[in-house]
Amino acid sequence: MASPALVERAAWLRAEIERHNHLYYGLDAPEISDAEFDHLFRELQALEAQYPELSSPDSPTQRVGGAPLKNFSQITHRVPMLSLNNAFEEGEVAAFDKRVREGLETEAVDYAVEPKFDGLAITLSYEQGVLTQAATRGDGFTGEDVTANIRTIKAIPLRLAEAPPLLEVRGEVLMLKADFAELNRQQRERGEKEFANPRNAAAGSLRQLDSRITATRRLTFFAYGIGASEGVALPASHAGLMDLLAALHLPVCRERAVVRGAEGLLDYYRRIGEQRPMLPYDIDGVVYKVNDLRAQMELGFVSRAPRFAVAHKFPAEEALTVVEAIDVQVGRTGALTPVARLQPVFVGGVTVTNATLHNEDEVHRKDVRIGDTVVVRRAGDVIPEVARVVAERRPMRDLLTPLHEPFALPTTCPVCGSHVARGEDEAVARCSGGLYCPAQRKQALLHFAGRRAMDIEGLGDKLVEQLVDLGLVGNPADLYGLGMDILVNLERMAEKSAINLLEALDKSKHTTLARFIFALGIRNVGEATAKDLARHFGALDRLLVADTTALLEVPDVGPVVAQCIVEFCGEAHNREVIQQLRERGVNWAEGEGAAPAGSGAASGKTFVLTGTLPTLAREDAKAMIEAAGGKVSGSVSKKTGYVVVGAEPGSKYEKAVELGLPILDEAGLRELLNS
Ligand code: IVH
Repeated sequence: MASPALVERAAWLRAEIERHNHLYYGLDAPEISDAEFDHLFRELQALEAQYPELSSPDSPTQRVGGAPLKNFSQITHRVPMLSLNNAFEEGEVAAFDKRVREGLETEAVDYAVEPKFDGLAITLSYEQGVLTQAATRGDGFTGEDVTANIRTIKAIPLRLAEAPPLLEVRGEVLMLKADFAELNRQQRERGEKEFANPRNAAAGSLRQLDSRITATRRLTFFAYGIGASEGVALPASHAGLMDLLAALHLPVCRERAVVRGAEGLLDYYRRIGEQRPMLPYDIDGVVYKVNDLRAQMELGFVSRAPRFAVAHKFPAEEALTVVEAIDVQVGRTGALTPVARLQPVFVGGVTVTNATLHNEDEVHRKDVRIGDTVVVRRAGDVIPEVARVVAERRPMRDLLTPLHEPFALPTTCPVCGSHVARGEDEAVARCSGGLYCPAQRKQALLHFAGRRAMDIEGLGDKLVEQLVDLGLVGNPADLYGLGMDILVNLERMAEKSAINLLEALDKSKHTTLARFIFALGIRNVGEATAKDLARHFGALDRLLVADTTALLEVPDVGPVVAQCIVEFCGEAHNREVIQQLRERGVNWAEGEGAAPAGSGAASGKTFVLTGTLPTLAREDAKAMIEAAGGKVSGSVSKKTGYVVVGAEPGSKYEKAVELGLPILDEAGLRELLNS
């Protein structure tokens, strides 16, 4: 047993080491040498090794990573992680400021402004001041539990300088440009693959199941907001909030400022634009937020983005290169996409060798031909595209005749030979082969296995390629018939990976109705629609027999989507595959038509309503909340999950702000209930 003096010494060492971590990684102002730091660190390590009862998850010694995980588990965010609307033009910024002024009925608005970090959004949960959980943004409602990896980031405190019951810190994990250059140098030296840019390197490092690998990568973090909180006296402004986070030793960037009006915003944009090359980290724009937090709540949210903030993006980068060929790719729904194969060119932080030409009309409009010199454009993480042709540089046969003919889309599918059809008012032409076409089959399988669908880890494109080309898998149900005997004979498939894949397949069998519907890959049925359908019908069989009229009752389902669903479900082949999937053990909980209790973000949560909502009567809001498994209460307390605020709210709103409770407007409520 460690003596009280040793217990105290260990606690002192932990605090001291974390203080130096903050000085070094957070403030860039170390007080001691590396050797002195190592000395403290080793003393703590030795103490913890000798007296295991002294070690704790918030000890800096835990930052080296731990045993690898099998997979990341899912975490439902207490407060959804939304996204920002984008502005590209000065006019859009002026329009944003105008909307805000009108919404708040004021003359001039103060904005908190900061860089838009080009990394990954993360939420950190501190309970009683201790970092207990960290999650990625995911779909905004649920993300992946990356706590073990986040603990290895030394700029992130494991314990806060103060200990409120709950504080969720939101921010961006990134890799500094210098650390990225060093990492790639090491990768080269080891003969391993280099990362395209710091953002990819950060993402790759954070998505490691083995946190010991993450620990070897230098990642950093900047906080830009908070999620849920309890027992935190919230300041009146965003700038105040950032100061509060800084005081708690969370890294916040130095470049933040407060400016007034649209002019102030644009000045800041230009200033940061000039500094951009010198900044130690990558940014892809700046973010403007109404500084006054109460005004933020007043403005509220539209769908998935706040009305009180906007991201002003830097223009896309452009570069010149030459088109070597124009290929045609066949997508999951048979859509034929012309793709320009390019001489490699570095643009927007990556080397680009392919650029989409979108569709036939686009190629003709731009008249892109083989041999052409083209301007390639790439913005942030958007797919690169061919912006235009440099006409003067077109290779010519003689003065008047270009060397190459205009591009023509093939009339038969380049993969399966089926005829290509283009609907009258459709921009895209499609292969009519359906699942007979190997390209469509491969894409359908990849979609089925995707992270947001059945989440079959390890089933990537190389593997699907082989399985389809060898005729081993024709439809999703065949995946669940695969065995060791077949898998170990595939290329690049060691016994270990085969076992992992079988385990992943087995695990994926237990899913949700929404995921299953999404996985089917029905045209025009995305993740959100799949969720709506699951919620509305509750059971797959009810969806399978639904007619257009029944489908049109589902929120956000219009005639086109309804038609796609009816067609898909009417196809005997599709029903057969669904039947086989069920026979092979794919299962989910079915409900009455509303979300199965205990699954949604609202379930088990208490809601308080105050003020008049724009479209929902109080009774309707209550019914919706209850249908999603939530409760409605008349009074606000620490235990309240969400406060839904409408026009002219009462004192409940004040109290909610005081307690730091998550606040929603009607749109926010709908989003949450649909999640
Ligand atoms: S605020 C309610 N501030 O941009 C919106 N986001 O499109 C909360 N991002 O996923 C976001 N820098 O990861 C905010 N200074 C900044 C940011 C920032 C980068 C990212 C963030 C989010 C995306 C929003």
